[in-house]
Parts: sequence; C-alpha cells; structure tokens
Amino acid sequence: MTSDPDAIFDEFPVLTTGRLALRQVRPSDAPALFAIFSDPEVTRYYDQPTFTELAQAEALAARMQQRFADKRTIRWAITRADDDWLIGTCGFGEWKRHFHCAAVGYELAQREWRQGIMTEVLTAVLTFGFTQMQLNRVEAYVMTGNTASMRLLQKLGFQEEGLLRQYGYWQNAYHDLHLFALLKRDFI
Ligand SMILES: CC(C)(COP(=O)(O)OP(=O)(O)OC[C@H]1O[C@@H](n2cnc3c(N)ncnc32)[C@H](O)[C@@H]1OP(=O)(O)O)[C@@H](O)C(=O)NCCC(=O)NCCS
Repeated sequence: MTSDPDAIFDEFPVLTTGRLALRQVRPSDAPALFAIFSDPEVTRYYDQPTFTELAQAEALAARMQQRFADKRTIRWAITRADDDWLIGTCGFGEWKRHFHCAAVGYELAQREWRQGIMTEVLTAVLTFGFTQMQLNRVEAYVMTGNTASMRLLQKLGFQEEGLLRQYGYWQNAYHDLHLFALLKRDFI
C-alpha cells in the first residue's frame, strides 16, 4: 500500500487484465465516446443525457482528463489489449479521501455487453482502489430497473444497503437510487 494515496496522480496508472488494457481517456477518444453515449440503451439508467453532438463527447473526454490533472479522481478508458479503440469507461466518481470511500461508475458499448468485460474491468479497478487508493469502501448508485448493473455488482460481492429516495436530480426529475457498497474486507 502506498503511504500517500495522491501518489496515484504522479503518472496515469495503466492497468492490464487478461483481455483488456485500461488507459487514460484522450481527446481522440471523443468519437468512440460519442458512439457509446449516443446510444439510448446505454444512457437509459444514467445521469447523462443521450448525446446528440460530438462536442458533448469532446467535453466529457476533457472533463475526465481534467479531473485527473486536478487530482480529484480517476477514470479509465477500456480497450481490448490488442486494439486501442475505447469500448467503455470505468472509474471512481466522488472520492471521499478522509472516509477512505469512493463511488464507482462504468459503461460499455452495447455490442460488448454480456461477455464478462465489466466484471474483468471492475475486478482490476477495485483491486487498484483497495490497494493503491487506500479505499475501505466502494459505493455504487443504481437506478431502479438497471438489472444488469445490479447483478454485476452483486456478482462482485457488493451488498445492497438501501434505497436513497429522490437522491438524484437530472433531466428535470428526481430519481430514486439503490445504494450498493463493497468493503475491502469482503473483496481482498
Ligand atoms: C452494466 C454493464 C456495464 C454490464 O457490463 P457487462 O460487461 O455486460 O457485464 P458482465 O458481462 O461482466 O456481466 C456481469 C453479470 O451481470 C449480469 N448481467 C449483465 N448484463 C445483464 C443483462 N443485460 N441482464 C441481466 N443480467 C445481466 C449477469 O449476472 C452477469 O453475470 P453472468 O454473465 O455470469 O450471468 C452494461 O450493461 C452497461 O454498460 N450498461 C449501460 C450503462 C450503465 O447502466 N452503467 C451503470 C450505471 S449504475
């Protein structure tokens, strides 16, 4: 374990898994991000509107890079090990350092669903969080009906802790969110 969790920001930590490489999101990923976020099936249970313009994807790529540069949090581009094309992203949203707690988020291009990819990604990302970021607790917030996300989390050992009523607000509506959490002691 590193003594200073901020050391993760010294150089972007590239992670590799059996089939995949996780690297930093770049401006040149905007077309791939647009392809993913313009699919209403991907954004159905997401706090992002379905993208209609490439500029939205360019802004998202820039935000992801900036949040790393500002040492706020980290989001990885998911690629196949033998192909640099971004097929999804995964990372930590809010990082409550003093609580050793962060929230995880993820999405994958629809053509890549149901191949165990996000299970593989999250296994690497959670291992990184628990060992390199000194996390003790990882949370996930899931909208009612997002069965794929809930099953994915449960498969990784997350427990559902309750329903946060009208916790989210986007697209002019409040949204109930299911709180899932995984403790380090239950993962490592
Ligand atoms: C959620 C998401 C990332 C899952 O990624 P994935 O790579 O397809 O997930 P995996 O293949 O690793 O599946 C893990 C488990 O989740 C469950 N699961 C995944 N997709 C499912 C689906 N469409 N329906 C029901 N269960 C599903 C299965 O139990 C699966 O395990 P199994 O294949 O051993 O049965 C993907 O569906 C997605 O990008 N959704 C849109 C974005 C989103 O909702 N993000 C989360 C916001 S909280």
